[in-house]
Amino acid sequence: MIRIEHLARSFKVPPAPSKAIPFRRAPAAWVQAVRDVNLLAPNGQITGLLGPNGAGKTTTLRMLAGLIKPDTGRMTVDDVDVAREPLVALSRLGVLSDSRGLYPRLTARENIVYYGALQGMTRDAAQSRAESLARMLDMSALLDRRTDGFSQGERMKTALARALVHDPANIVLDEPTNGLDVIATRALRESLRLLRSPEGGAKCIVFSTHIMQEVERLCDSVVVVAHGCSVASGTVAELLERTGKTDFEEAFVQLAFVQTELAERGALA
Ligand SMILES: Nc1ncnc2c1ncn2[C@@H]1O[C@H](COP(=O)(O)OP(=O)(O)O)[C@@H](O)[C@H]1O
Ligand SMILES: [Mg+2]
Repeated sequence: MIRIEHLARSFKVPPAPSKAIPFRRAPAAWVQAVRDVNLLAPNGQITGLLGPNGAGKTTTLRMLAGLIKPDTGRMTVDDVDVAREPLVALSRLGVLSDSRGLYPRLTARENIVYYGALQGMTRDAAQSRAESLARMLDMSALLDRRTDGFSQGERMKTALARALVHDPANIVLDEPTNGLDVIATRALRESLRLLRSPEGGAKCIVFSTHIMQEVERLCDSVVVVAHGCSVASGTVAELLERTGKTDFEEAFVQLAFVQTELAERGALA
């Protein structure tokens, strides 16, 4: 189970040199990437983090993965506080980042086993886990090829196997279908459905996307993020009902754009 409460994070952006006055710099600006994100993702469910580009999804998931620290807010993984016990929290988390970041000179198998070793697994345990994950993800033929030159779909499978090597109870994926073709996307969806099911371990799965259809097809519940805030959450049916729409795209646009605009106008008034 993953819980995020009132998460916020800003970045200082270095100023551009002034064109009008040489050697003079404008003061540094701040970007509020995440303002107030809340999320509760239970076990045995797929929770979608749905938002347009720049909404703050990647920043939120990078904080969850311990890569950057929040300014304020609280995150727990299976009730373990990420800030207080980062290593315990991370051992319960499998993360598929938006950049994938495989070692190109290592084979798929070596990438997976190396990550297992980093997670404290024995070599034998990591090896046999790599084999069984490869069967599950239908990538056995890839295992002993260098990842250099892999297609997007092959890279995604390798990165997913690597994220799952230590059999974490919680799985976080940042826009996993980006760059994938229809077949690879369907394969990923099938894998996530399996991981959600009791046979697959009833994992807690959180995945971010800007694609409404992904959420409709796959998610048990959805958190809509816009301008760094979670603006609505519930099942697709609940969000349709709340907005009075029959089409999820319409509901999403209303939630992500209209409501935040109203809120911002309210804040300004
Ligand atoms: N390291 C950073 N420095 C400055 N701005 C950043 C940084 N990371 C993210 N941002 C900004 O924060 C906002 C949210 O980004 P991001 O979390 O990547 O959104 P998403 O993943 O939803 O597209 C964007 O405006 C982005 O430019
Ligand atoms: Mg992103």
